[in-house]
Formats: sequence, C-alpha cells, structure tokens
Amino acid sequence: MSAHRQLFVTTALPYANGNFHIGHIMEYIQADIWVRYQRMQGHAVNFVGADDTHGAPIMIAAEKAGKTPQQFVADIAAGRKQYLDGFHIAFDNWHSTDAPENHELARQIYRDLRDLPESQGGTLIARKTIEQFFDPEKNMFLPDRYIKGECPKCHAKDQYGDNCEVCGSVYAPTDLINPFSVLSGARPELKHSEHFFFKLSDPRCVAYLEQWTQDGRLQPEVANKIKEWFSVRTNPDGTTSEGLGDWDISRDAPYFGIEIPDAPGKYFYVWLDAPIGYLASLKNLLGKRGQDYEAYMANPKLEQYHFIGKDIVTFHTLFWPAILHFSGRKAPDNVFVHGFLTVNNGEKMSKSRGTGLDPLKYLSLGMNPEWLRYYLAAKLSARNEDIDFNADDFMARVNSDLIGKFVNIASRAAGFLSKRFEGRLSTDFGAVGAALLADIRSESDAIAKLYDTREFGKATREIMLLADRVNSYVDQHKPWDLAKDPANNEALHQVCSVLINCFAVLTRYMAPILPSLAESVQGFIGLDMSQWNVDTNVAAIQPYQHLMQRVDVKQLDALFEIPEPAAPVVEIVPPGGKVPGAPTLPAAPGSLPPKGPDLALGRPGGEEIAPTITIDDFAKIDLRIARIVACAAVEGSTKLLRLTLDAGEQDATGAPRLRNVFSGIASMYQPEQLVDQLTVLVANLAPRKMKFGVSEGMVMAASHGDEKANPGIYILNPWPGATPGMRIH
Ligand code: 2FM
Ligand code: ZN
Repeated sequence: MSAHRQLFVTTALPYANGNFHIGHIMEYIQADIWVRYQRMQGHAVNFVGADDTHGAPIMIAAEKAGKTPQQFVADIAAGRKQYLDGFHIAFDNWHSTDAPENHELARQIYRDLRDLPESQGGTLIARKTIEQFFDPEKNMFLPDRYIKGECPKCHAKDQYGDNCEVCGSVYAPTDLINPFSVLSGARPELKHSEHFFFKLSDPRCVAYLEQWTQDGRLQPEVANKIKEWFSVRTNPDGTTSEGLGDWDISRDAPYFGIEIPDAPGKYFYVWLDAPIGYLASLKNLLGKRGQDYEAYMANPKLEQYHFIGKDIVTFHTLFWPAILHFSGRKAPDNVFVHGFLTVNNGEKMSKSRGTGLDPLKYLSLGMNPEWLRYYLAAKLSARNEDIDFNADDFMARVNSDLIGKFVNIASRAAGFLSKRFEGRLSTDFGAVGAALLADIRSESDAIAKLYDTREFGKATREIMLLADRVNSYVDQHKPWDLAKDPANNEALHQVCSVLINCFAVLTRYMAPILPSLAESVQGFIGLDMSQWNVDTNVAAIQPYQHLMQRVDVKQLDALFEIPEPAAPVVEIVPPGGKVPGAPTLPAAPGSLPPKGPDLALGRPGGEEIAPTITIDDFAKIDLRIARIVACAAVEGSTKLLRLTLDAGEQDATGAPRLRNVFSGIASMYQPEQLVDQLTVLVANLAPRKMKFGVSEGMVMAASHGDEKANPGIYILNPWPGATPGMRIH
C-alpha cells in the first residue's frame, strides 16, 4: 500500500423523495468504515454525498405536495443530518444534483461528448425520433411506470407499462390493452418526439468498456454478470439483440432536470446528471475550502471509488465510466457493489417501501448506533451478496461478542489499576503477557488488509479471536484472585497492564467501526486513536467509565412493534364545555394531527425532529401535571397570561406551594377558560425574571414551526385521571 493515497469516495445519491431507510444507512456505514480506516492509515479522503433531485417522480410528488420541486427537495435535504449524525456517518459534504455545480458540469460533459472531433471518432451523441405515450390531460410524455393497462399475455388488469407483475412478461407500454395514464386516468396517445442518445453501441465505447469491466478491478461476480451484456441484451419488447444498446439520455418538458444545451424543452434524463452529482458535491466541497477542483481531478494519483447497491450496476459500470472517459475525464478506479439488506428474513428493503427497521426509530429508542455499525460490519464482505438483519442474532453478537468479549476487557483491569496503582501502568508485562501483546500487535497488517479489501466481517471475526485470547489470559491469571494477596501486587499490576494495552490495540482495530467508542477510549487511556499505530504503550489510565450498554430485548421488541393504526382526529371539548368563539382545544393525547405533506416529509409540524437524545437526557426534564388554579391577563402585554399553578408541591410548613408562570397563550385563550384545567408544567426549569415578575417554570404548548403561515398555540391538557404533581415519563 503506497503512502498518502488521495481518495475520492462516494455512496449512491438517494432520491430526494423520501427519508433514508435502513438500506441507505447500511451503504453509508459500509463506506464510512472504509473511509475511516483509510484516514487512520494517513490517506487523504474526500467522502461526499448528495441528494438525487431530478426526474418525473420527484416532479410529480412535489406537485402533489403543493410545492415547487426545489422546495420539495430542500425539505427532504433538511431531514438528512439527523440520520447521518445519528449513525456517525461522516461525509465531508452533502450536496444536491440541482445545485449550480451540477448543472454546469452536466452541460459541460454533454458538450464534450457531443463535440468530440472527427480525429477521435466524432460525436458520441445521436438524435433519434421515438414514439412514446403522451398524457393529453397532463400534457406530458409518460414514463413507462406511469402507464398501466391489461397485460397483453395473461390479461391481468392494472399492470405497469414495462412488465407484468402477475405473469412476469416484459413488453413495451404500447402493447398494453386499454392503457391509461396513472396520473390522470386519461387514455394516452402515441406521439413522436426527438430524443438524444449516448452512443453506447459505438465500437469505441464497447472496446473501452470491455476492457474497463473485465480487467479484474470489479468484483468477480459483478464482472461476470456484465460480460453477458456485451453479448446478449433483452429489449423492452422481449426481443433480444446483440451487444450494448444506445442510451436515451433526454426527456421532454415538463421535466424537473437540467436543460440540454442548444435544445430548448429537452432535459437530461435524471440518470445522466445523477452520478455527475458526485463530481458536483466534490467541487462544492473543494470550493468551500478554496481548493481548485480541476487541479484536484487532474492529479494522476487520485483514486475514485463509488459504493453502490446491486440494482444500479449498469449505470455505474457502463454509462458512467464511458461518459467520463470519452468526455476526457477520469473514470472511476472501482465501483464497490453490495447486496440488499433484508430484515428478520423478510422482504428486501425496497427503495419505495423501506419498511422493517426504521433508522430514526432505532435512534429514538436510545439504541446505540455503534451496535448497528458493529452488527452490519460483522455481516459485510467484499462480495455483492444480500445480508439479513436478524434481531436475535443482533442481540447475541452485540452482547456476547462486542461487549462480552471486547468492551469488558477494559472493565476487568481498570478498577485494579485505578485503586491500587493510581492509574499508572507497568512497562513490565511478564513473558506471557509480553508475548500475548506482541501477538495481538502482529495481526495489524492482516487486519488492515481486511479493512482495505472491505472484508469487514472477516476483520471483526479476527478481532474477536484476538479478544478470546485476551480473555483466556484473564482466566489463566485471574486478577481478582491476585488482588486478594498484597504479595501478588506486582503480578496484578503486570496482568492489568497487559490487559489495558491489549484493549488499546483492539480498540484501534475496531475504531473504523466504533468511532465514538474509540474516542471515549482515547480519553480513558490517553492515546491518540486516530492513527493505525498499534505499537505505543499506554502509560496511565483515567478512572474507568462505562463504555457501552448491552442491548435490552425490550428495545428490540419496541423496534419491531407494528405501529398502531393512526387514530382518527377527534375534537375534544374541554371539561366545562367549549366557550363560544374560543378556539377548539387540541385533540386528545393519542390522536394524531391531520396528515399534511410536511409530516410525510419528515418535517412534522413544520420543523425537523430535533437531534436524538438519550433517555438520560430526557430524564433531566421534570414534567409535572399542574392545575391552573387562577389565570389572569397581564397588563401591558397582549401575548401573556399569568397562570397560578398547583403542581402538588408543599412548602417547608406543609402549606401548598403555588407557582407563578407566564405563558404566551393570550391570543388563544380567555383566562376564565383555563381556570381549573390540568396542564403540563416543566417543573425544574430555572426561574426567569421577566418584565412582569418571575416565571417559575413553563407550561407546555404546541405550535407549528411556521407560526406566520400556521398561527395558533395550544396548551396541553391531560386525560382525566391525572392529578397535580404526577410526573410525566
Ligand atoms: O437508485 C437510486 O437511488 C439513485 N438515486 C442512485 C443514484 S446514484 C448516482 F448516480 F447518483
Ligand atoms: Zn401478465
């Protein structure tokens, strides 16, 4: 491995029409582990992602949501961070294929392909007139997926325009019996249109790709599959042709995309500009750092890698390298293909139906993201094969292997070192201990190689075997027995010092997978964990703090619990009846607000869900039921009401203690409406001095993120049965 490699690494760009599902997270974790490993080796990596924003489905979804496509994709983008941060996925940049860099790059690449001089074989762009279904009501050409009708073979109704889900036949949309537009229901008409094609069938492309795909860089199973495409190809109408076909890269307006230069009303098909988004994100990143993109790309040492799923191999191993190469750019060094993730032996996590294991739910249950990183790493290999997330297996591997074998090594030694030796480690490891440590260190290159070749499952197995050896050493030397007799002090010191040093090496081996744990260990043992340097001894430790909890089966039960169907929205009339003219109080706890487009987009109530907190963070907030015993307008304020609250508290004499709280709800409630109502008080909020007096806490109320567009603030009102002083958990 050469020193100081320059790496440019990407993951596939997700469509900006939905939240991440666990399949995305798996790919990002796989790439993130690889990138972190490369950085530990001292290599320079730029690791980027972006939203894949263009195409008919996103345009149509935006229209349905009542937004412009730009607004729609911006809202999706705003929801990305919580997933990436939550699972410690450290992209250097997250961008968008609709960004100016991508428009510019896509147009430039197209021009370079179109204007190839005769001396190099001439243009690689062709124009051909094709016949396509057109929706006369929506005034647009229809992609195959937007046409349905009766299967021409088995006569099943309601089948898509490209293949029948009942009998499996493949056909052209024009073969459908009684076709209709999925968008309007109208009968589509056949219309002619001129399309632009990338000449993939050109002998230059074929020769180049035969070489690029078969020269040993690709995974063997991927290369073998691709080989077939050079000889036989199945056309949409079920017939077969020899070799690679030209690729239709244009779509007619209306289309959310990048307009083709010198061709008004024609747009690049989303799959043309999507991978160019890799370059656009990189260019944007370098621009922010003041680095020159052209110079960076011109570096002959630059290596370019794309992590992708097996469903998008054609785009990345045929079109993409050819487009880059023939436009005079650097083709990828490699494309790393992974399989699909199934959950509990269930269905594949499809792009449209990412059900099964909801990544945000995982985080919101307080489940440690590094459990998932470890589990997936333990399952991943360099091969393009599917892997299954199995709940029982997950719990066993995390609790028995990750924690039982590895994390616990530290706790077995740290206490003795802190209590008996002021945290200082011995440099005398004894013959057996020194040999063990040397053995563990000697695996460094082998484990490094496994990471470099993306054999993460083998790497974790190897590391766990080393942990087994460390644990046998513990069992042989029994520090807890040694500790019983002060005469064994030196031996105890040796054994514990060996253990902490072994733990330091194993942590470094694990650091690409467990970055947050490695950071905690760095604080604990005082060694920089950011480099793959296993030879430095630990001099002293800080007092041991628990490094990782075990998985609780209840968390897994909750994770896979099928959510209750949404309760209908009900109007609750507060005890005492609705005051005429007053706003309706919020629906009862348990019922849901009406589903608006924001909810579907991960911005419920107009704002993104806040970053995940642990249950311990939440426990810091003391929420209590309180009775509003009095309520009055505040002179000089149109916003505030003064509430006098009974939260069941007493003063030192045993007399009830009432609290004075100001709340900005005067626009919504008449003071008399609120008297005697129960509500929710943040009871341990520091008192706040306001213009009108001291506020001793806060009552909880709901409002929309965009208060201007959705005015209204609604005080919380618990179900009957709750009484003042009860804590809300
Ligand atoms: O299949 C997908 O989800 C595409 N959005 C992947 C694009 S990868 C790259 F080409 F942008
Ligand atoms: Zn059929």
